[in-house]
Amino acid sequence: MTYSRITGTGRYLPEKVLTNFDLEKMVDTTDEWIRTRTGVERRHCVAEDQTTSDMCVEAARLALDAAGVAPTDIDMVIVGTTSPDLVFPNVGTIVQHRLGIPACPAVSLEAACTGFIYALSTADKYIRAGDVKRALVLGAECITKLIDWSDRNTCVLFGDGAGAVVLERSDEPGILTTHLGADGQYRDLLYYPVGASKDLAKAGTDEAAIMMTGKEVFKVAVTTLGDVASRALESAGVSPDELDWLVPHQANIRIIQATAKRLNLPMEKVIVTVQDHGNTSAASVPLALDTAVRDGRIKPGQLVLMEAFGGGFTWGSVLMRF
Ligand code: UT7
Repeated sequence: MTYSRITGTGRYLPEKVLTNFDLEKMVDTTDEWIRTRTGVERRHCVAEDQTTSDMCVEAARLALDAAGVAPTDIDMVIVGTTSPDLVFPNVGTIVQHRLGIPACPAVSLEAACTGFIYALSTADKYIRAGDVKRALVLGAECITKLIDWSDRNTCVLFGDGAGAVVLERSDEPGILTTHLGADGQYRDLLYYPVGASKDLAKAGTDEAAIMMTGKEVFKVAVTTLGDVASRALESAGVSPDELDWLVPHQANIRIIQATAKRLNLPMEKVIVTVQDHGNTSAASVPLALDTAVRDGRIKPGQLVLMEAFGGGFTWGSVLMRF
């Protein structure tokens, strides 16, 4: 049987760190409110001239290194992002060219915060179908460029970064199950109002900023993430206590705690980086994964569940043996 397996991870976080105390000087907020309502203490922000592909290249180099493979060994690139450098060419092709990866499918995939889970699931299918041997899969965002820095409802939540994995064909699992979902009826609860074919004239104005009805998003996120996690375990015939690690989307510590509680999973088994990264959208899960792989918590052979939820709404999970 053919499986896909992660053989290397990497991450990049921009140099500039913005703390809650910095934000206290920018909007009517407090470190205490941000910490208790969201769990965020600090976040990284890209420099003005830095792009999503710049971060991807750095994260990818580390993932390739960790996997012990050369750029010339890669035969697919997929980047989950909702903040691409340009409308086109897609970020995947920019990363492919800059790393010297030979001609192969290269694309970016837009599923908001679930972008990495969608990208990983897609690469898994191509590998198991026998079309691809070794994929470079990334989640990356310059989400702070899409924020209204005078809106305390949103500006305290987000951060930038990129996470990467090398996913390879393997006779051993590997990825065990993937589940993706979406429901477009929720579009007005979380969206960015400017696009290439809609209201482009608003770009660069105050109206071009992430819009979120936080409380409503919170409620659907808690229910959906609990459901998608339970479904992943059920379909693999795995009980929650067999799970070594949950690597959840890092939007809000209260959402993470609620999901862990629903699974009866102690917080010691949950990778939490929201305090240091904020909500980095599609980068959140691969950033958390790489953090825990490099600090030695996630070890080869362990059972890991990753899951995410975002604008659309979109959601998804990947259950794997690392
Ligand atoms: O990644 C994609 C998915 N996104 C999410 O999952 C985010 C989901 N939502 C959330 O995480 C939470 O809803 C938020 C963190 C966004 C907000 O937390 P909340 O507990 O739902 O607060 P709220 O929006 O109900 O606001 C409570 C109060 C309000 O004041 P009043 O009306 O009660 O007087 C807000 O105006 O807190 C106020 N508030 C703030 N106060 C200080 C909102 N933002 C701030 C702030 N600092 N930054």
